[in-house]
Amino acid sequence: MSANDAAGQSDLTLLAPDSSPRPGLGELASAVRAIVSERAEWQQTAQLVAAELRRHLPSPEILTAEQRVGDPETYKSHLLHVEPGGAFSIVALVWRPGQVTPIHDHVTWCVFGVLQGVEYEEIFRLDEQGECLLQAGDNSNVTGEVSGFAPPGDIHRVRNVGEGTAISLHIYGTDVSRIGSSVRRYYDLPVVPA
Ligand SMILES: [Fe+2]
Repeated sequence: MSANDAAGQSDLTLLAPDSSPRPGLGELASAVRAIVSERAEWQQTAQLVAAELRRHLPSPEILTAEQRVGDPETYKSHLLHVEPGGAFSIVALVWRPGQVTPIHDHVTWCVFGVLQGVEYEEIFRLDEQGECLLQAGDNSNVTGEVSGFAPPGDIHRVRNVGEGTAISLHIYGTDVSRIGSSVRRYYDLPVVPA
């Protein structure tokens, strides 16, 4: 199975909210609701939501013990909250060591925080002809770190580079249950090293 297949499967199996206790989710959703209702432009919204996620970062126990185990086949997406009206969604991702997304970008702003482990992010940009990707930077995000970004310039790939299972929380400015994921496009293009 290629990385694309693996991630596609993960997106298609975006697991719906259930009735499990989600400690910290209600407070976080309220804080994000207050920001999103201000209808700022995307970059500013991402920065403001990131500040709220830092303030209200949940523990890994926002997932059940079973969900925190992950899946040997692919990283798993658990949809925890869709705001009524679809203004934002909160999704937890669980990654076994070495699991990786394909290179992709997003339909909307995104804020993410690492609840457990280390996630390594590589950032790319399209060359002028749109025929290959140029490496544009990288970040190692450890437990407790929060970042926010908005298109354009959001082409990236994320990998669990730690020795244990990684868990991260993602907030997207759309109803991801309607479109199946937050992804605008997957990029199956050659990568040119920086
Ligand atoms: Fe992403």
